[in-house]
Amino acid sequence: KIKRITVPQISAKKNKEPIVSLTAYTASVAQIVDHHVDLILVGDSLGMVIYGFDTTLAVTVEMMIEHGKAVMRGSKNACVMVDLPFASYQENPQQAFRNAARILQETGAAAVKLEGGEEMAETVEFLVKRGIPVCGHVGLMPQAVQTMGGFKIAGKNAKQIEKVMRDSNAIANAGAFAIVLEGVVESVAKTITEQLSIPTIGIGASPACDGQVLVCDDIFGVFQGFKPKFVKRYAQIGQTMEEAVKSYAMEVRSRTFPSAEFCFEK
Ligand code: KIV
Ligand code: NA
Repeated sequence: KIKRITVPQISAKKNKEPIVSLTAYTASVAQIVDHHVDLILVGDSLGMVIYGFDTTLAVTVEMMIEHGKAVMRGSKNACVMVDLPFASYQENPQQAFRNAARILQETGAAAVKLEGGEEMAETVEFLVKRGIPVCGHVGLMPQAVQTMGGFKIAGKNAKQIEKVMRDSNAIANAGAFAIVLEGVVESVAKTITEQLSIPTIGIGASPACDGQVLVCDDIFGVFQGFKPKFVKRYAQIGQTMEEAVKSYAMEVRSRTFPSAEFCFEK
């Protein structure tokens, strides 16, 4: 039986080798991704990427559990972590523990990720001390889209820089095994990465981070909506899929599909 990469092994990569992370939401994509990445994130970005919501706010624990299970079925090598969705952990540490524990128990994933800085430090510590590995997520926090008034990059002015530094320190001191930095300028990401003993995993946060994460549909070029500056499309699968659909539709309309090779004998 192949054993998965563990949470401590992810942390231990700091100052040794870059951490490669990518999201996955389905068994089929998890299978493709599994042998090439260290850490698979079942991100609540699935609300926008596969369910078509404008924000991640409507994502539920139940959705995260079903996709978490699918990703675990499709993978056997990578470490898998699941996002705690909006309103499943912000109330208090007890609520966070209840939902995080349920996610780990029902999916078999190794860790959870939650958004927030200083205000979430107590919760992170509560979970970690009780056996739940937590990855932090600071800088641009999509679950705070309504208070921010949009998806805006963090750490532009002195006040924001100060905040993202304090937030990262608080989450690291609370015992997080890694921290996602989203939408942070390079100088700030570099300082945070140098200061912390846990790895930073960047998304739109420069190569100064200890690792990188992106949304799978974004690198595949499947998600055709908004393309943030930090997304690199490594393929144009969306276009390829549309070509396939066009050909299929044409062949059905012209009655050239199904031809003999796709039919059972008379
Ligand atoms: O939900 C998500 O995909 C994420 C990553 C972009 C870090 O949180
Ligand atoms: Na997320």
